[in-house]
Amino acid sequence: MDSENKPRPSEFWDGFYRERERVWSGKPNASLVREVGALAPGRALELGCGEGADAIWLAQRGWTVTGIDISAVALGRAAQHAEDAGVADRVTWLHRDLAEWDPEAEYELVSAQFLHSPVELPRARILRSAAAAVAPGGLLFVVGHAAFPPWHSNEEAHGEGAELPTAEELAVSLGLRADEWSIEATTAEGREAVGPEGERVVLTDAVLKARRV
Ligand SMILES: C[S@@+](CC[C@H](N)C(=O)[O-])C[C@H]1O[C@@H](n2cnc3c(N)ncnc32)[C@H](O)[C@@H]1O
Repeated sequence: MDSENKPRPSEFWDGFYRERERVWSGKPNASLVREVGALAPGRALELGCGEGADAIWLAQRGWTVTGIDISAVALGRAAQHAEDAGVADRVTWLHRDLAEWDPEAEYELVSAQFLHSPVELPRARILRSAAAAVAPGGLLFVVGHAAFPPWHSNEEAHGEGAELPTAEELAVSLGLRADEWSIEATTAEGREAVGPEGERVVLTDAVLKARRV
């Protein structure tokens, strides 16, 4: 796709969500459940929260959550799901373009799950800015694709100059200093999952856990 003909990110994502009644499964990401389930709740920031399943799951565990997304359509659904789940008072939904937003508060958890886009998204800059908002002792938890998923099987479909760094490469690009962060970076092949059309897929994940010491 010619970059001049690409839609603006907000238009792209609103269109993406409008195409289906519900895009994602409604279940929280498995890695979030695994890594965060045992943590004491605090303030959480969820970047690219989509239809809100992770934010709602965190709220149900006592976290006070700020969920941010560029799509008003996705956030409308997220707010309704939070209402249905009885946790609306624990979640603040922010309609923002992360490319133009920096956190103003501190958080015990900053989570970005599959913050990828086929249209412009300065992911490393966003994650660097979000890392600065992790409170002392808090966790930066980033999970992303380290290989193109089958539904976006090439670079063009996944984004101009798309970079799918390994967890190790991501840790380097975020400039997390070893004297300030305890870092676990894992790139894992072979996770079985369900894609946006309900299809079974096998994915390679880049998982970065960085705790501010
Ligand atoms: C691949 S989806 C992942 C959604 C969710 N985190 C999950 O794991 O199911 C990427 C999300 O990032 C959001 N997004 C993309 N670009 C964004 C931007 N510039 N600012 C805020 N959100 C953005 C999209 O609207 C979408 O909800």
